[in-house]
Amino acid sequence: MVDKYNRKINYLRVSITDRCNLRCIYCMPAEGITCMRREEILRYEEIHRIIRISTELGIKKVRITGGEPLVRAGIVDFIASLQNIGNLEDISMTTNGILLEDFAEELYAAGMRRINISLDSLNAEKYTRITRLGDIKAVLRGIEKARQTGFSPIKINTVAIKGFNDDEILDFARLAFENPYQIRFIELMPMGDAGGGIDDRFLSNDFIKKQIETSGKLENVKKNKNGTDGPADVYRLAGGKGEIGFISAISHKFCSSCNRLRLTADGQLRTCLLSDEETDLKGPLRSGRDDAFLKETMIAAIAKKPRQHAITFKDTYRKKCVKEMSAIGG
Ligand code: 5AD
Ligand code: SF4
Repeated sequence: MVDKYNRKINYLRVSITDRCNLRCIYCMPAEGITCMRREEILRYEEIHRIIRISTELGIKKVRITGGEPLVRAGIVDFIASLQNIGNLEDISMTTNGILLEDFAEELYAAGMRRINISLDSLNAEKYTRITRLGDIKAVLRGIEKARQTGFSPIKINTVAIKGFNDDEILDFARLAFENPYQIRFIELMPMGDAGGGIDDRFLSNDFIKKQIETSGKLENVKKNKNGTDGPADVYRLAGGKGEIGFISAISHKFCSSCNRLRLTADGQLRTCLLSDEETDLKGPLRSGRDDAFLKETMIAAIAKKPRQHAITFKDTYRKKCVKEMSAIGG
């Protein structure tokens, strides 16, 4: 489906749970969050139905997110069940990697080939600090297992945080040089209560790119042509095995080429990560409405997809999002 700003909508991100086995400081507030009640969270059959209907609207690519998707029981069977939706070309996942060592083979057997892993520090002590409780060794074992299992590409998401990991930029670049991974630097976004105290933490991707360029030449990698590429600007460090991507949602917004929709864990269709407007799909799902009605509801939501988000950063964030990232899935 093409929206009124001529953007081809072909990508759906699906948060299957707001629960997580980590508590990353920029994602969850210190006091903790109130999790959704179980009955508020869509059942797998309900999510499957929304995904199937979305493919009739042109969705070709689905990414499963959370919270942490691997903490939800039944996840592997659910992934496998998506294989029977015709027209769906790609099913991937974003995970924090803590449980990936245990799940990589099953996910691969269920048909998944691509995976993104969040990793904000390469230092064990700092990793535990940013996630409030994570063990980096588990994540590194998960990444290695994913590689051995055959996942490709393997992308590593690193949220850039001033005063936290700005001294590790070249270490991440080296990781991408020595391994066939794509390391993606993501600009910090002000989400929910967790986004409250982060104004002195923003770091623009221009800063990071300049720093990496002191260590070698960055060659631009051409995007593929099928229009389902993500928003990252991708480079290769000359001679390196992997790639380095920049997702600059704040400093260089890419809204004009945004191809995505999001389904939150509680069944809301969110057409823009950084704008809080949502359309309820759970209500119609649970009141027995037919596929045609759900499809019309989704079409109406897409028609209201904002032209662009309104968040900027100059000394402070102008405007923030209300909903926590853990309920949207990034
Ligand atoms: N700003 C930027 N990225 C975030 N993520 C979670 N919260 C934020 C935030 N406030 C990232 C996670 C994960 C991806 C889905 O989104 O680290 O890699
Ligand atoms: Fe969990 Fe991801 Fe949020 Fe960290 S960023 S708390 S891993 S959902």
